[in-house]
Amino acid sequence: MRLSISYDTMLANAIGPEHGLTQEDLDSIEPEARRAFEEVEALRTGDEVTFFRLPYDAETPRRIKQAAKAIAERCDNFVVLGIGGSALGTTAVASALRHPFWNLLGKKERNGRPRLFVLDNVDPDWLSAFKEAVNLKRTVFNVVTKSGSTSETMAQFLHFRDALARALGPRHVKNLVITTDPTEGLLRKMLNEMPEEQRYEAFEVPPGVGGRFSVLSAVGLLPLAVVGVNIDKLLAGARDADAACKEGDWHKNPALLCAALLHLAHTRKGKGLTVMMPYSQGLRDVADWFRQLWAESLGKRVNRAGETVRVGLTPIKALGVTDQHSQVQLYAEGPFDKVIVFVRVEQFAKTLPIPKRNLPVDGLEYLAGHTFNELIDVEQRATQAALIKAGRPTMTITLPKVTPETIGELLHLLQMQTAYAGALHGIDAFDQPGVEEGKDFTYGLLGRAGFEQKAEEFHRITRRGGVGE
Ligand code: PA5
Repeated sequence: MRLSISYDTMLANAIGPEHGLTQEDLDSIEPEARRAFEEVEALRTGDEVTFFRLPYDAETPRRIKQAAKAIAERCDNFVVLGIGGSALGTTAVASALRHPFWNLLGKKERNGRPRLFVLDNVDPDWLSAFKEAVNLKRTVFNVVTKSGSTSETMAQFLHFRDALARALGPRHVKNLVITTDPTEGLLRKMLNEMPEEQRYEAFEVPPGVGGRFSVLSAVGLLPLAVVGVNIDKLLAGARDADAACKEGDWHKNPALLCAALLHLAHTRKGKGLTVMMPYSQGLRDVADWFRQLWAESLGKRVNRAGETVRVGLTPIKALGVTDQHSQVQLYAEGPFDKVIVFVRVEQFAKTLPIPKRNLPVDGLEYLAGHTFNELIDVEQRATQAALIKAGRPTMTITLPKVTPETIGELLHLLQMQTAYAGALHGIDAFDQPGVEEGKDFTYGLLGRAGFEQKAEEFHRITRRGGVGE
């Protein structure tokens, strides 16, 4: 593993026994951690949950790289139409690994690759503005939906398909690429019914890969390859993280270690909020992706035995140094209910100096001659020290550099951490019944056949005085 994890600052030695984990706490997790490891290992052998296999699939990336090259040649803009797990991973990796102002660069500076847009909302003003801003004829839309039926994505598909057909006629087929389930859902049905010569190019989300665990499938790999991310290295990093997760000893398995520490802090010390705070602008969207992964996977009403448990760790996204001036006051002096997970980068790609000479005013000598690299590092350590002093548990994940390999490692590590955390909580981390309910009410309200009862239920529970009937 290129990444390292330090957690001394979670322990009683550093922050005292009231909020820090004691040796007794650590010893107590041993049997639970062993069971969680075995549960996840057992999942690996079945077909129900299969994201573990994505880093080892050689064939899909080969096909994706070929297709991505051809797509990049025929467009200036590549647009993901998708939401939740079908969008957040692409944004996270692109933000980390592409130029931060990628879409403002000229095509030459982008090495002939298109701009990237991820449209994960149905705000009519936003979508209309997007359409005004781009040349549709030079735009390829990747419709990404595992279920092939999510209202938001399907509405976007209908809208942009119509706009493309008006602009391009039958040639618009080349401007749409579909990523969906190999057998299920309306989009797959549509693809199967289309004559071959008019069929949209299509990719599969493998069975057993849920949305929020799908970034290393075609869901994320296609758009990322289109904008030139080295997906082989991304997958190699994920494989390295996976190898580290074959270790049954929870102290030596980095994902199980993080899951166990966060579980202990929650169940023994009442810290139910997980703040992820990268000190890197490029990793900001990794925290956003993690927010969905952690929230949707762990927030559950029932455990695997069907008993009501209502568990969950609430993820909070923060950005260093920006949110030092927004959130840290709360973390240092507010309720003792959080663990702050810092994500640090040891070596940034660039070194940016703070000038040494010709200071315009006395009093700034302490900054002069340093670099922004030192400043961001010192600010992270200073913030952590302030939190330690205030008795707040923190952990640190350090990336030596931001590269495709380290990002692949980080993503897979966090996915595995989530799988272990689900097992430690005794819940199914891979379903999302709470999200499905909202989706079904939407279908009912919009009149989708088969969802009439959902519309009735909606009216029953929302009419005045009817809530809780
Ligand atoms: O993680 C999940 O399963 C969800 O967040 C989905 O990704 C999201 O609801 C979109 O679903 P779909 O890809 O089926 O359109």
